[in-house]
Amino acid sequence: MQIERLEKVFLAIGVAFLTFALIAIAASVFMSNIHLPRPEARVNPRELASTEPFNNPGFHELEPGKWEAAITAFRFGFGGFPSVEVDGQRVSQIEVPAGTEITFHATSLDVIHGIMIEGTDINTMVIPGEVSKFRFTFNEPGTYLVICHEYCGTQHHVMYARIVVTEAGAVAA
Ligand code: CUA
Repeated sequence: MQIERLEKVFLAIGVAFLTFALIAIAASVFMSNIHLPRPEARVNPRELASTEPFNNPGFHELEPGKWEAAITAFRFGFGGFPSVEVDGQRVSQIEVPAGTEITFHATSLDVIHGIMIEGTDINTMVIPGEVSKFRFTFNEPGTYLVICHEYCGTQHHVMYARIVVTEAGAVAA
C-alpha cells in the first residue's frame, strides 16, 4: 500500500499528539492527584439518627470563629437550621458573626438535592447515602441565601434557608 509522504507526516503528528495527551492525562491523575469530586463518606440514609455527625444535626461552635454544621436535606427543607420567626414567618435561619468559618457536612434523607449558597463558591449536590463536605469563611456581613438547586419535587422552589452574618462582635444566635 502506497502512503503519500504528507499523509505520513500528518499520521506522525496525530500519533505524537495523542501520545502527549495520554501522558498529560496520566500525569494529572497519578502525579497531581486530579480527580472527580468524591463523597466525603457514605452513610445509610435510614440510620442517620445513629450516624455521626447527623445524630446531632445543626450548627455547633467548636471554638471562636470555627463552626461545624450537620445538614440533612429533605423534601422540602434543610434540617439542622434553627427555625426562627422573621416578619411573622417561620424561616430556617442561622446567625453567625462575621469571620466565621463553617465546615458543612450535608446528606439527604430522601432524594437528590443541591446546596448553593449565594455570594459564595459553594455549589454541591446532596445525595442520599453520601456526605458532601464543604467549607466557607463568611467574612462579609449580610444575608446569604442557601438554596436547593436540584429539582426535587413540587415544593423545590421553596426549599431554602438563610445564613445571616452579623458584624463581628455582635451576639450570634
Ligand atoms: Cu431540594 Cu430542590
